[in-house]
Amino acid sequence: MKKVKETAFFCKECGYESSKWLGQCPGCREWNTMVEEPVAGKKKPDSRVGTGREKPALLRDIQTDDDERLSTGFKELDRVLGGGIVRGSLVLIGGDPGIGKSTILLQICKNLADKGKDVLYISGEESLKQIKLRADRIGEFNDGLKLLCETNLENIEESLREMKPYAAVIDSIQTMYREDVASAPGSVSQVRESTNILMQTAKSLGIAIFIVGHVTKEGVVAGPRVLEHMVDTVLYFEGDRHASYRILRGVKNRFGSTNEIGVFEMMDKGLKEVENPSEYMLNGRPENASGSVVACSIEGTRPVLVEIQALACRTSFGMPRRTAAGTDYNRVNLLIAVLEKRLGMKFSEYDVYINMAGGIRLNEPALDLGIIMSLISSYKDRPIDEKIVAFGEVGLSGEVRAVSMADRRAGEAKKLGFETCIMPMVSSQAIKNMSGIKIIGIDNIRELINII
Ligand code: TYD
Ligand code: MG
Repeated sequence: MKKVKETAFFCKECGYESSKWLGQCPGCREWNTMVEEPVAGKKKPDSRVGTGREKPALLRDIQTDDDERLSTGFKELDRVLGGGIVRGSLVLIGGDPGIGKSTILLQICKNLADKGKDVLYISGEESLKQIKLRADRIGEFNDGLKLLCETNLENIEESLREMKPYAAVIDSIQTMYREDVASAPGSVSQVRESTNILMQTAKSLGIAIFIVGHVTKEGVVAGPRVLEHMVDTVLYFEGDRHASYRILRGVKNRFGSTNEIGVFEMMDKGLKEVENPSEYMLNGRPENASGSVVACSIEGTRPVLVEIQALACRTSFGMPRRTAAGTDYNRVNLLIAVLEKRLGMKFSEYDVYINMAGGIRLNEPALDLGIIMSLISSYKDRPIDEKIVAFGEVGLSGEVRAVSMADRRAGEAKKLGFETCIMPMVSSQAIKNMSGIKIIGIDNIRELINII
């Protein structure tokens, strides 16, 4: 008799399925992420979405509601969501444990309830008492919010059908389970199948569902990346758990642009939005310190100024150390090589540390010029004028290449009181009538030596 295979190996990072164990996942190239799980049995045909066969429709016959987007009460969050909550959408909020996912969702619930909407907060992690304690810190809630402690998805689905709230929160997906899936809660197949039910419920009942997904490196708990492709919107909370700022980044959005960021601060009464992140990121900048330069990056549609810090000090071992916090390590290595070759700086004798102050993660190539300048400043141990902002992509021969939205970047710098803006020559020629800030266009990083 043919042997029926009952288990398979799944990657807990990306959900890749394989019949045998592999050291490295072919899907996401992560090491040691494959776990063995029972394969989900043959699924019953689903009777939830529609009945019978649907007919193809004409675009102009489809009705859209006017009140399709509802504000969450946070402008920062609305922008990341692409303008507000969309009816029937499935939103995944990922992040490290303790970063503030439950807190922001409870605050959204409060804002929606204040607008007269019904919301259901379903928790599989905390007891009703614990949620109440948190809610007491956030403020007064009205009766629009209902709480439910439940982990069985069949029951949750039933409650959603009964109550038909405007929005619901599932905290967290890794604690939920379906009885007809054999593996344990938190496993790849459970997390996937559970999300499947939630997606169908959201679409068929028009409920906006927010799913919490913890990012975990250890154990067999599946990460939120496993369900990124199933949901409409994916947001990640970043930031240092021990510091007070939190950055909410849109990674995928079917209803808006991605890579928007929202900046929040954790207070004793929940999260508060930070309206001007540049000001916030530059807070506490050292005066007259070498290696510190302000650069400008575009995150989504918004320019953000950040302080780049570099520290170059003589290495005491044969192999110089390099670290990059908050930006791409390989990019930093490349820029160091460019400096070594084109400006003859002996970085091979120096340890180099690069840090984006403020705990934010930025990868835009336009930061290159800022990184280069901070490296030169630290190498020569000469501070750079603190009223200078720099941006531009740097190529392998040391040329400074054009970047997009130069005028918006310069505008943001001007708004925050900077006096000089160093940028690629090509971009500076495109900027007309910008007064109040001195614009210096450069073609090659060699020109920097004379400026700073
Ligand atoms: P939480 O939302 O429970 O994190 P997650 O759901 O992502 O695991 O965040 C909890 C952290 O936030 C915890 O360290 C306490 C802190 N916190 C405040 O500082 N102020 C507040 O008003 C609240 C509610 C929490
Ligand atoms: Mg939580």
